[in-house]
Amino acid sequence: MTDVITARNLAKRYGKVEAVVDVSFSVAEGEVLCLLGPNGAGKSTTVRILATLTRADGGTAVVAGQDVSLQPRAVRAAIGYVAQNAGTDGYLTGRENLLVQAAAHRLRRGSAIRRATELLDLVGLAGAADRVVNTYSGGMRRRLEIAMGIVHDPRVLFLDEPTTGLDPEARASLWRELRRLRAEQGLTILLTTHYLDEADRLADRIVIIDHGTVIVSGPPATLKAELGPTGGQDGPNLDDVYRHHTRTRLTLGEELAG
Ligand SMILES: Nc1ncnc2c1ncn2[C@@H]1O[C@H](COP(=O)(O)OP(=O)(O)OP(=O)(O)O)[C@@H](O)[C@H]1O
Ligand SMILES: [Mg+2]
Repeated sequence: MTDVITARNLAKRYGKVEAVVDVSFSVAEGEVLCLLGPNGAGKSTTVRILATLTRADGGTAVVAGQDVSLQPRAVRAAIGYVAQNAGTDGYLTGRENLLVQAAAHRLRRGSAIRRATELLDLVGLAGAADRVVNTYSGGMRRRLEIAMGIVHDPRVLFLDEPTTGLDPEARASLWRELRRLRAEQGLTILLTTHYLDEADRLADRIVIIDHGTVIVSGPPATLKAELGPTGGQDGPNLDDVYRHHTRTRLTLGEELAG
């Protein structure tokens, strides 16, 4: 399988803050990779580097065959990005939001109209397409934002905390959409989340980062198996994996401090 995303030793600082210290991973075509880690770990910064929204100070990244710092335009054409605090225009309808986004990507009017209808259907918003977004629920907005992220038919989709603030029903429906997008469009998806059950269900592979550094990575099943029989009755879950690896670091830090 070809890698669609390759990050090598990425680093990024904001003044004295080392947001990303050393992050390397790759994502194969059609794979879903979940980036996990505590608040401030460097997840959003990593995603923003890969989406060409901020420049790394160190390391290299290749997305859809292009170097993010050398060919940012080509990368931008091949990717969709939905920010942690993405925005829709509440005074426009769902369909109008998609048409504006399509125009920003220079789709012709005819194709934009067809694409908007197709996407509204794909994310389950056909019935609400012509209502203003201010009347949507949080889950409906998030699904619209995802549709906006893929209006130009990208090969790669970056989603920063796509399900934060959604109720369990809305989250489950978003998972279904993401699985379907991967199956039907062969999308490669990199998403960040704080929900470990979500990562467990969606991800082919997990990368846990903390303090800007990759702590551990691998398929959820492998990470759980590596823990051995330390979990509950059903064996370890991803919560156990997460706690194990973040606790290891905590102990190390305490030892160093002591
Ligand atoms: N534009 C910026 N200017 C200054 N500092 C920043 C900027 N962006 C991020 N940081 C800092 O870099 C570190 C990593 O932030 P980042 O947003 O990447 O974390 P995160 O893992 O996405 O956290 P969260 O789970 O809270 O979203 C934090 O200490 C943050 O305060
Ligand atoms: Mg973040």
